Amino acid sequence: MNVEEAIRKRRSVRSYKNESVPREKVEDLMESVRLAPSATNRQEWKFVIVDDSEKIEGLKNCTKHKFIAQAPYIIAGISTDPDYVMPNCKAAGPIDLSIAIDHLTLKATEEELGTCWIGGFDQNCAKQVLEVPDDLEIVALTPLGIPEKPLSEISKDRKDINEIITYNEYTK
Ligand SMILES: Cc1cc2nc3c(=O)[nH]c(=O)nc-3n(C[C@H](O)[C@H](O)[C@H](O)COP(=O)(O)O)c2cc1C
Repeated sequence: MNVEEAIRKRRSVRSYKNESVPREKVEDLMESVRLAPSATNRQEWKFVIVDDSEKIEGLKNCTKHKFIAQAPYIIAGISTDPDYVMPNCKAAGPIDLSIAIDHLTLKATEEELGTCWIGGFDQNCAKQVLEVPDDLEIVALTPLGIPEKPLSEISKDRKDINEIITYNEYTK
């Protein structure tokens, strides 16, 4: 599968089969995360791969998105230097983690696995479950597992291209 095919095929998956996925397969996916770019290549990140059923249940209690517990894994993307701000006044941590998680979601798509960005969770609750120190930040969670139905059956609604690009200057 080439990059364009993965981009077109990927969906947020909110229903998973009750089937396991070998850890080796997940570790292969994490290689795409490892290779992601980051601001000044600082790689200030950690990824917790959660497959312990009690921990998964614990994370389920930190969100209203209960489907996350259907998948055999939940992956937490953690910024280990959330206070680092770039010259453009933007915190690098969430951006670095977003790119890395996007690598993961696209690689997972190639492997016929489903993911779903979860920003809707209680930060302190998830930190407690995963024993993440207070000064770090969990940027995203995603379940990882076998989708219940083919990705092509999940809708992909997007704005028209002319609504989102302009040439040379910003126009509303
Ligand atoms: C930063 C971010 C946070 C998100 N948080 C959630 C979430 O908490 N729960 C959820 O079900 N989906 C979440 N999503 C998934 C979006 O709803 C989804 O990407 C969007 O509807 C487009 O659908 P698609 O991913 O299938 O193309 C999030 C996506 C992003 C990028």
